[in-house]
Amino acid sequence: MSGSIVLFGPPGAGKGTQASRISSLTGKPQVSTGDMLRAAVASGSEMGSEAQSYMEAGLLVPDEVIIGLISERLQEPDAMSGLLLDGYPRTIAQAEALAKVEGVSAVISIEVPDEAIVERIVGRRMDPETGMIYHIRFNPPPSEVSSRVVQRKDDTEETVRNRLSAYHEQTAPLAGWYEERGVLIRIDGNRSIEEVGSAIEAAITSRGN
Ligand code: AP5
Repeated sequence: MSGSIVLFGPPGAGKGTQASRISSLTGKPQVSTGDMLRAAVASGSEMGSEAQSYMEAGLLVPDEVIIGLISERLQEPDAMSGLLLDGYPRTIAQAEALAKVEGVSAVISIEVPDEAIVERIVGRRMDPETGMIYHIRFNPPPSEVSSRVVQRKDDTEETVRNRLSAYHEQTAPLAGWYEERGVLIRIDGNRSIEEVGSAIEAAITSRGN
């Protein structure tokens, strides 16, 4: 199916964890605005320096920065049949900007209560070599990887609370916006990684994406 698929949900809902499975299923390349911003920060670019202070405080990066970043990505050849957008859009302004240039066939909302989020985020570890996401309790890294995993700078308990506030104030209203447009798919994300993945796969398959 043409058009992009949006992965939507609070920080730590499991968007990045589920993205590669959905990308393989649909053939749509995964594009994570969080990963793009972290790459910009690591490169030392002017945009990266501007974004860094927002990210470390747990605030959303300004819409104009993000909209510019995604507009460029949507023009690349592999975006012709749509992308798997992980973490974009996150505001109504971003959704309106996207709607002007790209159709959205499904918005997968992974729903997890706030109480579960802090433990997920604080225990998250990333493999800098492969980009794989692990959790010290729920998905521990294999022994050959465990010595090199790192923690994201914004994965502290204090920052998570700010990220959750930003989510509830600025991002959660988007669910209703997409529901009105008939593309929202709600998934209970408060179960095992495998169960969440199977539920998403079944929902996408039944919609013919
Ligand atoms: P971003 O990198 O997108 O972070 P986020 O939305 O806060 O999402 P996360 O990456 O934290 O969580 P996730 O849902 O991918 O969960 P994961 O699969 O890793 O954004 C970072 C920052 O960049 C933002 O704060 C903002 O400043 C900026 N930004 C990015 N996009 C922006 C935009 N569009 N507009 C403005 N600013 C933007 O899983 C989390 C942990 O839980 C892992 O350890 C995993 O192993 C574990 N886990 C996953 N699923 C399960 C499960 N079912 N059961 C148990 N554990 C699980």
